[in-house]
Amino acid sequence: MANRRFSSLDDDDDDDKPKKPVKAKRGKKRRSVLKTIGLSFTGLVGIGVAGVAARGVQTGALGDVTAGPAFTPWRQWQGRVGTTPADGADSGAKPVPRESEADPAGILEAGILAASPHNSQPWKFTINGNIIDLMIDQERWLGAIDPFKREMLIGMGCCLENSLIGAKAIGLSPLLNMFPDGFNGDRIARITVYRAAQEITPAAVAIGSRRTNRGAYRRERAVDLKTISKLEEELASETTRMFWFDAEKDSGQNFAKATLAATEAFIADAELTASSDKWFRHDLASTNRRADGVATLNAGLSRLMTRAALMAPKNMIGDVHQQWLKMTREVQLPTAPMFGMILAPSIEDRVGLVETGRLWQRMHLKATTLGLAMQPMNQVMEMADAARVRGGGGEAIETVKKLTNFDEYTGVFAFRVGYSDVQPFPSPRRNVALAMGVLNG
Ligand SMILES: Cc1cc2nc3c(=O)[nH]c(=O)nc-3n(C[C@H](O)[C@H](O)[C@H](O)COP(=O)(O)O)c2cc1C
Repeated sequence: MANRRFSSLDDDDDDDKPKKPVKAKRGKKRRSVLKTIGLSFTGLVGIGVAGVAARGVQTGALGDVTAGPAFTPWRQWQGRVGTTPADGADSGAKPVPRESEADPAGILEAGILAASPHNSQPWKFTINGNIIDLMIDQERWLGAIDPFKREMLIGMGCCLENSLIGAKAIGLSPLLNMFPDGFNGDRIARITVYRAAQEITPAAVAIGSRRTNRGAYRRERAVDLKTISKLEEELASETTRMFWFDAEKDSGQNFAKATLAATEAFIADAELTASSDKWFRHDLASTNRRADGVATLNAGLSRLMTRAALMAPKNMIGDVHQQWLKMTREVQLPTAPMFGMILAPSIEDRVGLVETGRLWQRMHLKATTLGLAMQPMNQVMEMADAARVRGGGGEAIETVKKLTNFDEYTGVFAFRVGYSDVQPFPSPRRNVALAMGVLNG
């Protein structure tokens, strides 16, 4: 049974019609992306060819930028289930794990590759025989950006879903017990595993190649209803609802307007930007050292532009908040053909939030297998949470409500979806030992 859908797509059924093409001005787009990251060709030329080469070597920007330890977890999982074309050579071979590899720790290798807010990876695992406990690591909470821990719980749901899909892929059958200590506990799930036939599904393979794609999408290529239905397959959930916004229709334009306004409000808010900045990593050295956070590497620039940005010292890349706003206004919103929102009974419904994360993770994995690009865009909800916690701000809360006009449920997670020519780099990950607290971060 597909998840019940409420959608602006139901307004009329012209979704199969070609969309108005957006004029492709490649040269202009590239220049504006360069400006977006605060660099200019003159700036780079100013360093001189020898200088650029030296910085490239010094910063690691000219070599394999994902060779460092923070990216090893992706390769580990790919090694278990077989590589995917998106990540390089695809031999087509799916290595069968050795008998000894069907151990519960293998599940964590999938769990840690899940999406999380600001790549905070707010999870902690313990393993006791065949029992795995998945807990919140409160030290990895975002703070002011996430006052109700709405996003943290969604991230925990993402981690849970990857873990369950991963279990089957290494020959373990998982038995799930949600919130074993009660709904307010930090123990989100207890997973008891038993040996079973190994099942490497497309979703399990996609765990290793799923990426948040913050680059340009091809606006002219619509995400048609057939594709939306495929995304919704197997997304049954009693506790959540889905809402789609076609970018060509009023509802999509309202979503884009609200998201842009929320981004502007966010960057004008010193408390929110300070809490966000803590998770920003610029150079490869700090990205590999911390193995968390949102890195320049994952900003949605082309591979060439990413290398240019990585070469630049942090003070040369300019104001990252303005760049985020510019990227939102000029790239992310106008190039997306479709937006979506997941709704839960309330922002304090912990079951609904974890369910939302599970749903998002499943949908993003499915999208990956369909060649679709996706990016969460939660600015509207973040501004509503900030208003709630400050005890006012009816307007920000109303904005979320007006987008779907649905009384019983509220928006808790939003995203854009489309097709992209940009294959993003993987994001850094703390390894399994760090997630188990065996090593100190
Ligand atoms: C609850 C939640 C909220 C998120 N919000 C945003 C967002 O507003 N903007 C964005 O670009 N990415 C957002 N993300 C994506 C994360 O930043 C991303 O998952 C993380 O950096 C790891 O990268 P990966 O998904 O490519 O593995 C969100 C993810 C989650 C789980």
